[in-house]
Amino acid sequence: MIGVLKGTGVYIPAHVLNNDDLSKMVETNDEWIRERTGVVTRHVIEDETTVFMAAEAAKAAIADAGIMPQEIDLIIVATISSNVILPCTACEVQKEVGAINAACFDMNAACTGFLFACNTAQAYIQSGMYKCVLIIGAESLSNLVDWTDRGTCILFGDGAGAAIMCAEEEAQYVAVTHSDGIKGSALECESRHRKGWEKKLIGDTTYMRMDGQAVFKFAVKKVPEVIEEVLEKAGVQKVEISYYILHQANKRIVESVAKRLKEPIGKFPMNLYEYGNTSSASIPILLDELKKNGTLKRGQKIVMAGFGAGLSWGAAVLTWE
Ligand code: UT7
Repeated sequence: MIGVLKGTGVYIPAHVLNNDDLSKMVETNDEWIRERTGVVTRHVIEDETTVFMAAEAAKAAIADAGIMPQEIDLIIVATISSNVILPCTACEVQKEVGAINAACFDMNAACTGFLFACNTAQAYIQSGMYKCVLIIGAESLSNLVDWTDRGTCILFGDGAGAAIMCAEEEAQYVAVTHSDGIKGSALECESRHRKGWEKKLIGDTTYMRMDGQAVFKFAVKKVPEVIEEVLEKAGVQKVEISYYILHQANKRIVESVAKRLKEPIGKFPMNLYEYGNTSSASIPILLDELKKNGTLKRGQKIVMAGFGAGLSWGAAVLTWE
């Protein structure tokens, strides 16, 4: 059996911060942010939590797939910014959506999280262990961002996206994933837990720190490489690919990947203009948008590719159902 992505759903916080709003918080301006990143607005939570957004996206995906919550036998939530550690976000989602037959766990693979979660679901489905998996990417990055650091705060946004992956007899899903912990310092966020027996509360003084240029260079080199690698592994030619669904980090990264692959930019849909970089949520939010507006059609081959902290990166080629 092979897992195919069926229903999708999202939750996007209503509150919007535009570039002019940010220029009142740090020394930046709309022109710089648009030119260097492509981001125009980002949605950020007010009273919402990661669990709430994940559950809302999940409910929408379940309805879109036309399945009963009881049919779900596994829930994986990819997140780096949950409001809960115990019980895990996936268990909280299970409670909210009534997926009483599911096993649940969370996964941290940063901005590659949704891709790693899809691959994990796929491996379970191919092994025969599970048949119907709810996969969610949900982030409240506004809680981890240093709102005095113009190098990072302009990039990120909050939101959640979900998809249902179900077992089918005939389908294609081929994936390649990589990690490089040696280069991990390029994008870090320390734990906010107490430091062991010293009981020293670090509080909320730890935030995401990023060497933007290092991450940029890594992304524009590794993402085209991993896409070529996965296409070769799948025996699929670039001409057969309808769309490349990339993690939405920076429009210049997406443009550079298209150029290096010698593929038209029209095959690389983007919505980072509106949402910014929502880490593990960016790919499922984009998938949902493309499904709902009719861009993605049954039978098309697509590539999903993610990259981010770890460092981690990967790609999957699949047939859209
Ligand atoms: O999800 C995966 C994780 N993250 C990423 O994929 C991010 C990858 N990196 C990037 O997207 C880009 O590196 C950034 C958007 C973060 C930064 O763009 P950049 O073109 O690499 O800028 P830079 O860091 O090289 O800075 C260029 C200049 C500097 O000024 P000087 O030294 O040339 O005078 C910065 O101080 O731009 C300045 N700068 C800003 N100016 C206005 C940096 N941030 C800002 C800002 N507004 N927000």
